[in-house]
Amino acid sequence: MRKNIVAGNWKMNTTLPEGVALAKAVNAALCGVTPKCDVIIAVPFTHLAPVNDVIDNSKLGLGAENCADHRSGAYTGEVSAPMVASTGAKYVILGHSERRQYYGETSEILKEKVNLALENGLTPIFCIGEVLEERENGTFFDVVKAQIEEALFDLSAEDFSKLILAYEPVWAIGTGKTATDDQAEEMHAYIRGVIEGKYGNEVAENTSILYGGSCKPSNAKALFAKPNVDGGLIGGASLDAESFMGIVTAFE
Ligand code: 13P
Repeated sequence: MRKNIVAGNWKMNTTLPEGVALAKAVNAALCGVTPKCDVIIAVPFTHLAPVNDVIDNSKLGLGAENCADHRSGAYTGEVSAPMVASTGAKYVILGHSERRQYYGETSEILKEKVNLALENGLTPIFCIGEVLEERENGTFFDVVKAQIEEALFDLSAEDFSKLILAYEPVWAIGTGKTATDDQAEEMHAYIRGVIEGKYGNEVAENTSILYGGSCKPSNAKALFAKPNVDGGLIGGASLDAESFMGIVTAFE
């Protein structure tokens, strides 16, 4: 059966000392509790190795927020999947809308990143989601389907099964405007149907699909109660251990 997962995406926040302190606080909060979900934090590249040193990997998974679309070589400033894996990180967020929007990441580029992540034993947390205009003009199902097909449907069923998906409607990210639990459920069920059409029922049923976009302790419970919402990818509310834990404990 698929896993419930709550993952924090710190984005470009916290200095190294602040990040290590936050990771320690989340780790401490997880000691002595048995959450009904896996818990992951995705942190800036600079923080990966030091954060890995202060967390208990059996309680808290570690991920990067991106990786390069090349294995190694003359790509100044880039950080490769093998480099990420060498820090002890096990996950990598790929295809976040901020990467697509501000850094021109296309499905072709994301395909390379997914392959490199998998080759290096990293679990991609692959993000998809429509912008406001697409929500309003009714093309959102088609947009999300195309994002999945273009970047992921060349994978074997075995490789696809290693992915975590995150539906993040762009209009809900950092805006305080969450998708309703019914809107999230509708899209998650649709996504699961798209996966089933390509890889069959078993793969579809076993794929964790997280919701992201202004998820907070006050709305997490209703979102996670939906049958096709398997957890959350949390931005702002993951930057405070208490509010992040308020979401982690939203699973009943
Ligand atoms: P917020 O939770 O800040 O809306 O961000 C969501 C997100 O982009 C997680 O990847």
